[in-house]
Amino acid sequence: MTTMAVKIDHVSEDGIRQLVDAFYVKVRQDVELAPIFARAIPGDWGPHLDKMYAFWSSVMLTTGRYKGNPLAKHFALPGVRPALFERWLALFNETAEELFDDDISVEFRAKAARIAESLKLGLFYRPDRPWPPEAV
Ligand code: HEM
Repeated sequence: MTTMAVKIDHVSEDGIRQLVDAFYVKVRQDVELAPIFARAIPGDWGPHLDKMYAFWSSVMLTTGRYKGNPLAKHFALPGVRPALFERWLALFNETAEELFDDDISVEFRAKAARIAESLKLGLFYRPDRPWPPEAV
């Protein structure tokens, strides 16, 4: 008999916590993303995870729990380039699909993709260059 994990069928603070925790486990094992995070967060990951629970709570549950400026934070990160956003999204999508049923995972993935696009535009768009940029 095969057993299938029951997937979460609604958005809650608890589900968000599971998603964020599982996603950053993958990020920290990723050859390309891990070094960028390790540089920015050399010590305790607690505050970053708390911030990300609040961020996704604001995005998905419109709780307004997150106060911050993601674009400014990402500007300050050495080594971030457009192609890494594809990697970030691939890991995020994989995690959302593992935890949530299709309807909910589509919602998370759509929000993540839209925010990633706007971060990329803010970080890399230059009017004198073609968009999207080459995958560099
Ligand atoms: C290449 C892709 C990405 C990389 C390498 C990356 C890396 C990071 C790192 C290292 C931090 C911690 C910064 C610090 O505390 O100094 C951070 C913060 C954050 N990231 Fe990303 N990120 C990426 C994409 C995204 C995307 C697509 C989203 C949203 C969907 C996102 C949302 C956030 C938020 C909300 C914070 C907290 C900002 C704050 O301190 O208020 N990131 N990111």
